[in-house]
Amino acid sequence: MGFKNIILEREEDIAVITINRPKVLNAINRETVDELQAAFEEIEQDTAIRAFIITGSGEKAFVAGADINEFTGLTPEEGRLLMQHGQSVYSYLEHMGTPSIAAVNGYALGGGCEMAMACDLRIASANAKFGQPETKLGIIPGWGGTQRLTLLVGKTHAKELIYTSRFIGAEEAAVIGLVNKVVPQEELLKTAKDLAHQIAAMPPIAIRMAKLAIDKGSQVDMDTGLNIEAQACALCFATEDKIEGCKAFFEKRPAKFQGK
Ligand code: CAA
Repeated sequence: MGFKNIILEREEDIAVITINRPKVLNAINRETVDELQAAFEEIEQDTAIRAFIITGSGEKAFVAGADINEFTGLTPEEGRLLMQHGQSVYSYLEHMGTPSIAAVNGYALGGGCEMAMACDLRIASANAKFGQPETKLGIIPGWGGTQRLTLLVGKTHAKELIYTSRFIGAEEAAVIGLVNKVVPQEELLKTAKDLAHQIAAMPPIAIRMAKLAIDKGSQVDMDTGLNIEAQACALCFATEDKIEGCKAFFEKRPAKFQGK
């Protein structure tokens, strides 16, 4: 599929999606939401892609939120549908078997922060700014912000950030656990790609099972979570990659994983 608002590139065993609407600081309109869904599906169906990165074009913004131009004249019902559509695309992203990394290169606000939070990992450039400023617009976060921000940083920080619409810098985002790492802007993409290649070299079924156990396990009680972990681990025992990984350990050589 040809895209107008995003760029999808392959690089060996990883892919990079760049949100490309620099005139509006990469704000996401409906068309971009649909293109993202199509790109996610393309990546998910390509088993040769083992990890992918989402970033924004330019040096100022990752994504400055949903495109506020599209809010004009919306009825509550239309507003609900717009929010549920974005939520479903971000949930698809969150549940993908292919691990995702947000390379946050500037403003990650509203729907931009929400997209970064739906990724598995977040690397931020030193100039990145995060925020859920929807309350300043008279609404609340609608693409998962009230839920994922709370899960990632806890109610204390989530409520403060959402109630005040305050932006936080990359270092503060790292301190509260919103991002994994902060790097200078010029090193951002390389750092994200190195991490993606590192994950891509791992056994993909084991990575997918680890993701499932962490994500599903964190939504249930401990006993149920441990049961999910044990079942997911059992599945790994049935893979050729498990045989290769253990064999390589005893032969003192790097393992070559096939994804089987
Ligand atoms: N939607 C539409 N246009 C946007 C936009 C957005 N989210 N964010 C920025 N733009 C546009 C601006 O209107 C401006 O366009 P013009 O040049 O035509 O005036 C252009 O991008 C550049 O922006 P600024 O001139 O405002 O740049 P700045 O450096 O002065 O400020 C900023 C940067 C602080 C990011 C500011 O643009 C801003 O506050 N943006 C809005 C952030 C926001 O409220 N995001 C939440 C959106 S709602 C949401 O996401 C709901 C949800 O949960 C899904």
